[in-house]
Amino acid sequence: MNKTVLVSGGAGFIGSHVTVELLAAGYDVVVADNFSNCDRTCFEGVKKITGREDLPLEVMDFCDEKQTRALFAKYPIDAVIHFAAYKAVGESVAQPLMYYRNNLQSFLNVLQAAQDQGGCNVLFSSSATVYGEPDKVPVTEETPRKSATSPYGNTKTMCEDILRDTVKASEGKVRGILLRYFNPIGAHPSALIGELPRGVPNNLVPFITQTAIGKRECLSIFGNDYPTPDGTCLRDYIDIVDLAKAHVFAVTRMMEGKMKKDCEVFNVGTGRPVSVLELVNAFEKVNGVKLNWKFAPRRPGDVTAIWADPTLANTEMGWKATRTVEETLKAAWAWEKHLAGK
Ligand code: WQD
Repeated sequence: MNKTVLVSGGAGFIGSHVTVELLAAGYDVVVADNFSNCDRTCFEGVKKITGREDLPLEVMDFCDEKQTRALFAKYPIDAVIHFAAYKAVGESVAQPLMYYRNNLQSFLNVLQAAQDQGGCNVLFSSSATVYGEPDKVPVTEETPRKSATSPYGNTKTMCEDILRDTVKASEGKVRGILLRYFNPIGAHPSALIGELPRGVPNNLVPFITQTAIGKRECLSIFGNDYPTPDGTCLRDYIDIVDLAKAHVFAVTRMMEGKMKKDCEVFNVGTGRPVSVLELVNAFEKVNGVKLNWKFAPRRPGDVTAIWADPTLANTEMGWKATRTVEETLKAAWAWEKHLAGK
């Protein structure tokens, strides 16, 4: 019998791509989402890509303990990948309680249900934001975490600790993997699923594609006086399909009992620093479009440079990012055009 993976927040940007890769790898998937920050577009796209019209969808809220328990009672859940969370940095600064309540409560309920059913494999979607402004780059999993610059970032650090403590107390029944993502970008090559930000995008690539399609007038590049080769910030942009595949490696590692410790941490990045300006230039070149952009003041809270040392994920999990920035930016543009009906 196939193993069953619950994907909380499975209709969102990362969750939908992960669902596609899990199904391709032969897992049964249960998608659960409350559609608070996405519509049905990506869920429908997943069904089209995979041909799985029967893909189970549970519309529910993990902040509701009863609903969460009922879900675990309904399906034989071997692993849960927890994405369901708010993720806008700026909004979290303005509404910290909303962020702490939602992101912590939902994860506590998932862990309680996982523990009460006698154990489970839990994969938590963490972020490079837990490293803050690192003293040294690239960052390894041993790089010390720093206090985050936003409540959103704090919820990631806190959920990491909550999972670690839960695993420790469960004496091997609950196992955990923390995946720390760098900057996920792009879209599925089918252009049937991708990022669908509501309102004005906070993140760079959706802002680029929306400017190129004419939805936004001009991209502001935040800061050109950073101590980097071209003065703009350096990040580790990772293709969304590469990132999704890392989840399959991690889940399989847990299922097959290959973990070295009951709670493991992996950086999910490429190891390749790319500046904002380089990304913008690459987008224009690979897609043959001209982008309207200007330099603007620094954005508060941005770190100068962060990229991953992905050696541990490469050697331990056997996963490696394979796509070039150009391939990824092509996919991002194809998705934006698909949305525009072009
Ligand atoms: C990348 C670079 C900006 C927009 C955040 C979260 C992180 C994770 C991913 C989210 C920076 C510059 C951006 C724009 C710009 N979590 N930029 N003009 O800040 O590295 O990470 O998103 O769910 O936790 O912190 O990503 O895409 O916002 O910015 O110049 O209009 O692009 O200054 O250097 P970031 P980003």
